[in-house]
Amino acid sequence: MTAVSLDSFREELERFHAAAVETLASAASADAVEAARVEFVGARSGRLKAIQKLLGGIAGPDKPAAGRLFNDAKTAVTDLLAAAQARRAGAAADSRPAIDVTLPGDPLPLGHLHPITQTIRRVQEIMGRLGFESVDGPEVEDQWHNFEALAIGAAHPARDPLDNFYLAVARAADPLLLRSQTSTVQIRTMESREPPLRIVSLGRVYRPDTADATHYPMFHQVEGLLVEPGTTMAHLKSVLRLFASSFLGGDVHVRFRPSFFPFTEPSVEVDMEWGGRWIEMGGAGMVDPAVLEAVGYDPDTVSGFAFGLGVERIAARRYGVADIRDFYRNDVRFLRQF
Ligand code: FA5
Repeated sequence: MTAVSLDSFREELERFHAAAVETLASAASADAVEAARVEFVGARSGRLKAIQKLLGGIAGPDKPAAGRLFNDAKTAVTDLLAAAQARRAGAAADSRPAIDVTLPGDPLPLGHLHPITQTIRRVQEIMGRLGFESVDGPEVEDQWHNFEALAIGAAHPARDPLDNFYLAVARAADPLLLRSQTSTVQIRTMESREPPLRIVSLGRVYRPDTADATHYPMFHQVEGLLVEPGTTMAHLKSVLRLFASSFLGGDVHVRFRPSFFPFTEPSVEVDMEWGGRWIEMGGAGMVDPAVLEAVGYDPDTVSGFAFGLGVERIAARRYGVADIRDFYRNDVRFLRQF
């Protein structure tokens, strides 16, 4: 093997490096960079391979230094190639067509209010036009507001633990419960305000009822209360008929059937006829004098009426829904229709 001096080996590497720098600087495409890679560091016939062969001619003591020079040059040119490849890849990405901002965007699927929420808003709006202010009450109630002030005495079956969701908190003498009716809000309103008043309250109520097409253990009620001197059942029926016509649209008939609620006297069941069918919507009546007294009103000077309707029932009626459980199945194919 021909002897090679360390100096001429170094010069050979420097020429190799300079040539690589020059070639890559003018490589204008990914193909040109690839061609340069093959020329300079190609495994079979690259220029570096040829220089490697010269290593054999280096004198023994110079071999370690020559090996380091060789490796440095190899690393430098490999880095140059990698940088050139990255530049070409970036340029390719840049040359993709720009986004056309004038094109319409992808539509975003927008949700909407749940049909029961829509119903609640609609009832509030209609009742608001009749002068009824919308108020809220708590869903966790005490015995006074859910039962006693409404003349539902301790022995009344409506207080049965099997008919209510009592809360397992340490209040043995006066256990709290999830309210079973929105009539609680009648009491809370009358306790804090003086007549005359017209309020409507919509919210959730809870009963351990078995779910079926017309029952659900959690449902909503709309409670109406009007207390003014001279109020009669005729006012009650007029308000309910106006409400029903506005809510269901068209000519809706309202029918009262005698009934009993401890907190109204007389009491009625409210049926509505629409599209040739009578449906029970709720209960109503004149506020019992005992209730007026319990909240500190004088039953000799004011009278009032109250009603409570099932929101799911009136929503089902309006939208033609046969089973109120559909409102809570969270099936978007059902919910999308509203
Ligand atoms: C009451 O809850 C009385 N507080 C109504 C009232 C208010 C009477 C003011 C007098 C004065 P009732 O238990 O009948 O009454 O319920 C009223 C309505 O709620 C029912 O007519 C029905 O429409 C609805 N309802 C009752 N239970 C359920 C249930 N499990 N699921 C869905 N709706 C129900």
